[in-house]
Amino acid sequence: MTFKLTEEHLMIQKAARDFADNRCKEGVIERDRDMIHPTKLIKELGELGFMGMMVDPKYGGSGLDTLSYVLGMEQISRVDNSVSVAMSVNNSLVCWGLETFGSEEQKQKYLPDLAQGKEIGAFCLSEPEAGSDATSQRTTAIDHGDHYLLNGTKNWITNGGSASVFLVIAQTNAEKGHRGINCLIVEKDMEGFVVGAKEDKLGIRSSDTHTLLFNDVKVPKVNRVGEDGFGFKFAMKTLSGGRIGIAAQALGIAQGAYELALAYSKERKAFGKEIHKHQAIGFKLAEMAMEIEAARLLVYKSAWLKDQGEDYDLASSMAKLYASEVAMKQTVEAVQVHGGYGYVKEYHVERLMRDAKITQIYEGTSEIQRVVISRFITQ
Ligand code: CAA
Repeated sequence: MTFKLTEEHLMIQKAARDFADNRCKEGVIERDRDMIHPTKLIKELGELGFMGMMVDPKYGGSGLDTLSYVLGMEQISRVDNSVSVAMSVNNSLVCWGLETFGSEEQKQKYLPDLAQGKEIGAFCLSEPEAGSDATSQRTTAIDHGDHYLLNGTKNWITNGGSASVFLVIAQTNAEKGHRGINCLIVEKDMEGFVVGAKEDKLGIRSSDTHTLLFNDVKVPKVNRVGEDGFGFKFAMKTLSGGRIGIAAQALGIAQGAYELALAYSKERKAFGKEIHKHQAIGFKLAEMAMEIEAARLLVYKSAWLKDQGEDYDLASSMAKLYASEVAMKQTVEAVQVHGGYGYVKEYHVERLMRDAKITQIYEGTSEIQRVVISRFITQ
């Protein structure tokens, strides 16, 4: 057992950290305030190979392991989570899902542009009435021989406005329940596909989260991913890996807030000394450091298991649950360490606190992670 990162891992970690500090930091407050999509930064990330990190180079990807992806996500998430969520969905839900379960034709057609960030992908599972209860899909994909006719509405879709490739989960045969669900690849310019309202959110405000509408969209059958009825399993398997990405995002948020709190506690003086020398603050920093390190071990372990080809469903749920709870708790503490300054935008910690909340909600709420974990440990 080794806890040491390889030279290659360290290089990737540094490249992502530099990108976050040198490119993402500038303008992050304004982008968050005005909900400005970080289009240019995402393109640059693609050029650096961060949008298709685990994709085989023969499909235009970087051919790296999951741990590399986690290290990249963690570093970017210290600074800008609207950038890192786009990176996460594109890498682990769209590219990984297509590469693992797509046909050769689908991989050749879609992966090269997605992996290089020339095109962005979106994963469309959630609906107005199907969030945690994901088998209750109301969107329908009715079989018409050589195509499916797609009708319905998807909600809360990350990259909804910027994506051009959409993996859409829909019910084909309601009598078969979740075994009658399919995943279809929808392209932005297909007739009947409409990008609806953009959400005005608490956090990750510059990420483009949209409602999507499908009105009699004719989707060729060759655009179905996997066998007929594989759509729900596709979503579940893909989300297991996605949760590692969101766990890494939560870890990065907590780390970012901790670094800011630590630095501030060494500058700010009260009662004649730096505030970290007061036990009330020193103890907070100690708890932050410990909980973040524990979260890091869970997140890295889940990535490692995936890289070893071992089961990672339980580990990814544990990592996502724990890291997101740490992110929420410790960003609140980081604001507290900053006192009044923490409550204003200029000091960045209030944004990280708002961003932390979504990690307890998307890609399976904390409650859903507890469902998954409890089912595993009691079976
Ligand atoms: N891998 C493979 N198959 C799986 C699986 C997994 N990890 N988990 C479940 N399945 C299979 C089951 O084996 C079962 O199939 P069979 O009947 O053939 O055996 C089928 O899926 C249904 O499973 P359950 O009976 O366990 O289904 P359930 O209704 O009890 O729900 C759940 C399971 C875990 C709660 C699931 O509904 C779930 O994960 N819900 C949360 C959905 C979610 O994460 N949404 C996030 C939206 S995407 C997003 O947020 C992206 C973004 O934009 C950032």
